[in-house]
Amino acid sequence: MSNYFQFISFLLFYSLYYSTLCPAIQYSHPHDQNLLLLTFKESFSIDQSNSDYFSCRSSYPKTLSWNKSTDCCSWDGVTCDKITGNVVELDLSCGQLSGSIDSNSSLFLLPHLRRLNLAYNQISGSKISMIFGNFSQLEHLNLSNNGFSGQVPSEILKLTELTTLDLSDNAFTIGSDIFKLLLTNFTKLSQVSLHYLNVFSSFPKNLSSSLEIVQLYGNNLHGKLPYNIFHLPNLKTLDLGGNSQLYGLLPSVKWNSHTTLQWLDLSDIQFLGKLPDSIGNLKALKCLDLSGCGFSGTIKPSGC
Ligand SMILES: *[C@@H]1O[C@H](CO)[C@@H](O)[C@H](O)[C@H]1NC(C)=O
Ligand SMILES: *[C@@H]1O[C@H](CO)[C@@H](O)[C@H](O)[C@H]1NC(C)=O
Ligand SMILES: *[C@@H]1O[C@H](CO)[C@@H](O)[C@H](O)[C@H]1NC(C)=O
Ligand SMILES: *[C@@H]1O[C@H](CO)[C@@H](O)[C@H](O)[C@H]1NC(C)=O
Ligand SMILES: *[C@@H]1O[C@H](CO)[C@@H](O)[C@H](O)[C@H]1NC(C)=O
Ligand SMILES: *[C@@H]1O[C@H](CO)[C@@H](O)[C@H](O)[C@H]1NC(C)=O
Repeated sequence: MSNYFQFISFLLFYSLYYSTLCPAIQYSHPHDQNLLLLTFKESFSIDQSNSDYFSCRSSYPKTLSWNKSTDCCSWDGVTCDKITGNVVELDLSCGQLSGSIDSNSSLFLLPHLRRLNLAYNQISGSKISMIFGNFSQLEHLNLSNNGFSGQVPSEILKLTELTTLDLSDNAFTIGSDIFKLLLTNFTKLSQVSLHYLNVFSSFPKNLSSSLEIVQLYGNNLHGKLPYNIFHLPNLKTLDLGGNSQLYGLLPSVKWNSHTTLQWLDLSDIQFLGKLPDSIGNLKALKCLDLSGCGFSGTIKPSGC
């Protein structure tokens, strides 16, 4: 009986002890995730001057409150899976982080991440193939507005679960093959934002019908714009402005009143001929920029 009692109290002690730390069934040491995240925190300094971003509703050093005495699952910006206890989301956007991510970063030892948002910090690094190679479950990746540079590695093609990808406003270059595969083969991808990256590619012919938000402003794209981009079934935002080497023909575009398009920026693309009358069918449209496109004719209501 007393053995049984000892066993129960041991179990109780054990579970109380470990429930105060970050639980993780798949790790031999449950508090690994705490240490990994604290190591990640230590690899940056806080730069308070780096807070003035229009897109950040509030900007503050999220990692300042992270400390050993609390469970990492309760930390600001950290979300754990309720069942496994694994860290599944890291949102340090607008977090005033300054520093670099190297290939030995402890971040890459959190392979269960489904969402990673480091947007609007001053994070640099050019050898980040691990970001893409190590997170096979990643659904949302947001590295926008940082100082990342170099070639986006082909490991990104392993992230087939991605639904949103935002690499905007970094000094990244994306190879043409990778760009085309992202737009064609990623059948779950609904948002792709690559504003101001160097892409230097033409468009692939077949685009994934999952695409809803396509933001490719100033990407040095060239060649002919495929018509079917205008007929993607779920398209809401198409921002292709600032790609003056792209050209297209619009007259055969047949928008109908079911078209969901809300935002259309085709500024500086070279169009030949007239605007299609069906543009009047874009009932959901909130923003239209056709400046510098060389269109002739007037916009008249149609489909009434
Ligand atoms: C640790 O974090 C908790 C809340 O996250 C805070 O209340 C506490 O003061 C912190 N302790 C130290 C030593 O910073
Ligand atoms: C990671 O590597 C860099 C050099 O590439 C080194 O300066 C840094 O100390 C290393 N960090 C860790 C946590 O080992
Ligand atoms: C993740 O990256 C580390 C190096 O930081 C590597 O040792 C490990 O094998 C990688 N894990 C996976 C699942 O790719
Ligand atoms: C990335 O994060 C920034 C800052 O929170 C946000 O404005 C932007 O919409 C995010 N991008 C995506 C694709 O969610
Ligand atoms: C892209 O998708 C096509 C058709 O599904 C497939 O044949 C091809 O192997 C895929 N390419 C890559 C690099 O995954
Ligand atoms: C494009 O898609 C169509 C229909 O989905 C398919 O028949 C065709 O083989 C695809 N072409 C390429 C180059 O993948």
